[in-house]
Amino acid sequence: MQAYYFKSLPSTNDKAMELAHQLTTPEFSYVVAEEQTNGRGRNGNSWSSASGAGLYMSMILRPELPMELLPQLTLVAGVAMCEALNALPVLAGNNVGIKWPNDILLNGRKLAGILCEASLQGDSKAVIVGIGLNVKASQEQLPARVIYPATSLLIELGEASVKAIDTATLAETFAVSLKQRFLRYYSTHEIVSDWSKYDLLVDTQIKIDTPDAGVVEGVAAGITSAGELVIVDAAGDKQIITAGSIIK
Ligand code: BTN
Repeated sequence: MQAYYFKSLPSTNDKAMELAHQLTTPEFSYVVAEEQTNGRGRNGNSWSSASGAGLYMSMILRPELPMELLPQLTLVAGVAMCEALNALPVLAGNNVGIKWPNDILLNGRKLAGILCEASLQGDSKAVIVGIGLNVKASQEQLPARVIYPATSLLIELGEASVKAIDTATLAETFAVSLKQRFLRYYSTHEIVSDWSKYDLLVDTQIKIDTPDAGVVEGVAAGITSAGELVIVDAAGDKQIITAGSIIK
């Protein structure tokens, strides 16, 4: 896998997109930056990306998949991240999980996020999978979040455990796990059962603010094969949620 390292970039997703449109850049190449000056999160949020405080990386995919199988790539990335994180010696005994659709939580707090972006330019089709992991960030360097507050490996595990973490090695570990998982998904088209092992919301009461149906409340009941969230409301009816933010 080809890796591109930068000291500073506006956003690794933007650089990966630029490289993806040079058709000679192989699939699974990835971009890592020590800092981002315009790190982007989901829903138009920014992603706090101070120098040396986190891992900021983006991988280039060129999936030959039908359109309806593309949205699940973000779930695949979530599973790959959880697997790689759970295998880290520093995290032994501290299980990470996923809050739908793709927030990676540790001890109920948000440790990492995934931003997938697709792009079509002439003959070049690419999906960029951007990963942000808070490694050595202090609480002051992270945004204040009311629900599922942001955290880092430093905050959760302490200085002694994170001292030895090297972001380039971490990036390689994630890249291997991501590539394996994407290749498997390209051939099986199946991710829901593995994703469900990391589902932190299942069987819990939640409230979600959705763009089309307003606030929906009920018990989370897993995801559909298309990666939508299923909620059983007070009347016992199933509600399928395609997008939204959990507010409780
Ligand atoms: C989220 O909002 O949870 C997704 C955050 C994704 C952040 C990463 S950091 C590397 C890549 N480059 C960006 O600008 N964003 C993603």
